[in-house]
Amino acid sequence: MCGIVGYIGKREAAPLLLNGLKRLEYRGYDSAGIAVLNGEMSVLKQKGSVGNLEQLLSVSGTVMLGVTAGIAHTRWATHGDPSDRNAHPHMNVTGDIALIHNGIIENYSVLKQELSGQGYTFESDTDSEVLVHLIDRIWKGDSSLDLESAVRMALRHVEGAYGICVISSREPDRIVVARKGSPLVIGIGDGEFFIASDAAPIVEHTNKVVYLSDGEMAVVTRDHYTVKTIENVEREKLITELDFSLEKIEKGGFEHFMLKEIFEQPEVMQDVMRGRVRLNEGRVQLGGIEDYLDRLKQAKRIVICACGTSWHAGLIGEYLIEEFARIPVEVDYASEFRYRNPIVGREDVVIVISQSGETADTLAALRLAKEKGALVMGICNVVGSTIARETLCGMYTHAGPEVGVASTKAFTAQVIVLSMLALALSKGRTISHDEIALSLRELSKVPEKVSRILDLNDQIRAIAETLKDARNVLYLGRGYNFPVALEGALKLKEISYIHAEGYPAAEMKHGPIALIDEDMPVIFIATRDSTYTKVLSNIEEVRSRKGRVIAIANEGDQEISRLADHVIYIPQASGPVTPLLTVIPLQLLAYHVATLRGCNVDRPRNLAKSVTVE
Ligand code: F6R
Repeated sequence: MCGIVGYIGKREAAPLLLNGLKRLEYRGYDSAGIAVLNGEMSVLKQKGSVGNLEQLLSVSGTVMLGVTAGIAHTRWATHGDPSDRNAHPHMNVTGDIALIHNGIIENYSVLKQELSGQGYTFESDTDSEVLVHLIDRIWKGDSSLDLESAVRMALRHVEGAYGICVISSREPDRIVVARKGSPLVIGIGDGEFFIASDAAPIVEHTNKVVYLSDGEMAVVTRDHYTVKTIENVEREKLITELDFSLEKIEKGGFEHFMLKEIFEQPEVMQDVMRGRVRLNEGRVQLGGIEDYLDRLKQAKRIVICACGTSWHAGLIGEYLIEEFARIPVEVDYASEFRYRNPIVGREDVVIVISQSGETADTLAALRLAKEKGALVMGICNVVGSTIARETLCGMYTHAGPEVGVASTKAFTAQVIVLSMLALALSKGRTISHDEIALSLRELSKVPEKVSRILDLNDQIRAIAETLKDARNVLYLGRGYNFPVALEGALKLKEISYIHAEGYPAAEMKHGPIALIDEDMPVIFIATRDSTYTKVLSNIEEVRSRKGRVIAIANEGDQEISRLADHVIYIPQASGPVTPLLTVIPLQLLAYHVATLRGCNVDRPRNLAKSVTVE
């Protein structure tokens, strides 16, 4: 959840570390800090954004000049409020060890009690600080140890998740790092190394990286790195080449990453389908699951586990797979699945969906499903992420780095992957070659239709003006548009802080209708499908209670303009591809409402891009 950066080499470390933190700010931004080794240890940390830290550094950072090794952190609070003293790095009492940590030390209170009993005092309320004192105690207890061994021994006492970087002025030419449950990547430069919690801060310096796996540690010096397990067994690591550029993680002229990512969708959709949708042959080619396709087709049941927006994509996946492949599908919140002793076995397939590939609950669901013998398949965006590596087979969404905290392009990419999967599972079983070919043609037309919807940006912004002072908004849709209603509501609430709910339109009568009055805007997704006339009746019901109606409807639908206060017209499309279109105006609407309210859309309060803690 928090962001980690480390550097050791021949260049000035502090500006490099600060720059790296800026690239990671989407992971957490309530405080930031830096520690460098300048003969002695120097640490600066402060509540607030990386910008605050930068200012502090310009005033008090002269000791950091000319220093070529250090670590830095941007925090998203789990234990202890956002404050200067809870900011990382944390130090031991004598100030010669500094540590930054992502994750949660679950047994920290036991360890804290133990250390307190031995005379250790704590400066912060964090779980992370316990770890630096533990390392200190072990190292002081045996002076023959080095930093690496002291860290290794300390980690044996720790339960929970961590990605850590540790430095010490007693061994100034090394950074010791370790990972369990919280990602860490080492970037390999020329006579220099970078460490980070994901590749975003590394890509501008090198495209060669090594991903640490759970239970691994590394010692990084100016000229080499070694990776071992926490049990001290040496590991040969594969060097991976990153395939995204710096330009891709910058804003490219848009005011916010979220807007850039919304507008990137036509291109991203093409990327997701490239090489996979074979229009001429009327089939899909899915390399990542090819060897397992027969087993997937034979599944007695498919269970989809995910969180948040990825869970909404999973719901659409359920509709798609059941409609085309006729395999029963259940969609579970990963956080519920992992704790409810689910009935899953060898005949089941569990699909985990995650943009980041690091979401703690989704990862735990994956591991549980594996333990129970299910075939586990992943749908991830971040290449090399933990979920991608731990699943037996899977498909990348190829949406490129998603920086805006609110997921947009990753969602539509997930839905396209699920559409291709549903068709691959149907082949030779449930629908004809011609029907698959027709569906693929429909899918391939989506990017161009999305571009046309994006042209409505100004109209959608004007509608957002009418919503910006709302206190509650209801989103209603049916069939394929029900998960879109949920997603539209989630987008609005997470970035504009307006309370919003999504419902299947027919459920309105069973409760939410009580809320309707002239202050309640209702957004209907009313495309022409089998439930269209029923949705029109729901609109009438809202109007007769003076509710304000905004409708997403198909081009040419005159009837709806009579009923709705505002209509956003989108191109016609078949039911299964509809969510890929109807979600676009809802993303834009949420974006504009949030910016009109002065909210920071790329960094909404209390949220983080990658939820690597429970
Ligand atoms: C909402 C959003 C979150 C994520 C959720 C799962 O816009 O981004 O709801 O979808 O935290 O994250 P991933 O997909 O990374 O597992």
